[in-house]
Amino acid sequence: MQQEDFTCQSLSHFPNTGAVAWQSPSNIALVKYWGKKPVQLPANASISFTLSNCYTSTKLSFTKSDTRRVQVFVDGQEKPSFLKKIETFFERIETYCPYVNNYAFKIETENTFPHSSGIASSASGFSALALCVLSIERKINELSDVDFYKKASFLSRLGSGSACRSVYGPMGVWGAHEHYEGSSNDFAVPYSDVHEVFKNYQDTILLVDKGQKKVSSTLGHDLMIDHPFAKNRFEQARNHMFDLQKIIKDGNILAFNRLVEKEALTLHAMMMTSDPYFMLFKPNTLKIIHMVWEKREADKIPFTITLDAGANVHLLYPAEYKQVALQFIQDELIAYCQNEQYICDEVGKGPLLKMEQYA
Ligand code: DP6
Repeated sequence: MQQEDFTCQSLSHFPNTGAVAWQSPSNIALVKYWGKKPVQLPANASISFTLSNCYTSTKLSFTKSDTRRVQVFVDGQEKPSFLKKIETFFERIETYCPYVNNYAFKIETENTFPHSSGIASSASGFSALALCVLSIERKINELSDVDFYKKASFLSRLGSGSACRSVYGPMGVWGAHEHYEGSSNDFAVPYSDVHEVFKNYQDTILLVDKGQKKVSSTLGHDLMIDHPFAKNRFEQARNHMFDLQKIIKDGNILAFNRLVEKEALTLHAMMMTSDPYFMLFKPNTLKIIHMVWEKREADKIPFTITLDAGANVHLLYPAEYKQVALQFIQDELIAYCQNEQYICDEVGKGPLLKMEQYA
C-alpha cells in the first residue's frame, strides 16, 4: 500500500448515522522513537510491546452534517480542552478520509488507567479513534484485514507517532529499517518473531509522579532537530533495532536487559542535553531504578527497567517472576510510588472491536 492508496476515493453510500466502539491498548517502546520530521515521520525506527490492561475505550457516534463538528467526552464529562489535538488529527486525516468532513461526531472515551497517571494516553487514545473512523469507511469500501489495520496504523500515526504501534500485538515496529520486512515510516507493522518468554512478559508500572508533564513529547521531539548528539543517537537506535531482533527471537533476557535499559537512559540523556535542557526524572525514579538494580544483583532476578517520557518506571520481567516481583514492590518499592500506586500489565494482543451499528 502506497501513500496514495490510503485515500478513500468514494463519498457515496456512507451511512447517515451510527456508532462504533473500539478498545485499543497503550504500548511501551523498547527502542524509543525520539525525534521526528514533518508530518509525523520518525527520525529512527522503534519497536514496542503492546500492553494488555492499559487501554482506551472509545465510542464514536456520527450523524451526517454539512460541516464537520466534534464533541469530546472523557469519563462522561465534556472536555473542550481536548478539541485542539483532535481537530489537528482530523485536519491531517481529511485528505485520506474525506468523509470526516460530512459528519457531526461525538467522541466518548475512557481509559482503564487512572486519569493523569502520567501514562501517555495518546497512543491508546489516537489508535482507538483512528480505528473507529476507519470502521465507518470499511462499511462502504472493502478493505482486507491487512489493509484495514495498515491504514488504521497510518491514521493513528497522524494523531500521535507511538499510537501507530498500538494497532498490533504482541509487538509493533514503526520506521523503515532494512532488517524488518515491510517496515515503513508511514505506518507500523506487526512483529511476532518473538520467543515464548516475551509473549507474556510483565510490565508493572510504578507511578512515581502523576502530575502533568512539564515538557510535552512533541516539544521534546522538536529539540532533537538541532541536538548535538542526534546523529549518533539515530545511529545507535538503528543498531539497537538490529540487535534486538535476535535477542527477542532467542529469548536472551540478559542481553534484553542491557539493551532496553540503555535505550531508556539514552532517551532521558537526550532530554538532559537538549537546548533548552530538561529533566523528567524525579528523585523517586532514581531511587526505584537503583533498588531494582540492587535486587537484580543480589537475588539474580532478571528485572529490567524502562521509562517513557515521564517519571514513572516500567518494571519488565518474565511471567514466572510475577509473585517475586509483586512481593518486592509491596515490601520495598511501593514507598516510592505516589499514593502507593502501581499498575500490573503485560504484553497483549492488540485492539478489539466492541460494537458497531450503522443506519
Ligand atoms: C518516549 O508518540 O507521544 O514514548 O508523535 O508527538 O505524539 P507524538 O509523540 P509520542 O512520543 C513517544 C515518545 C516515547 C517513545 C516511544 O513511545 O517510542
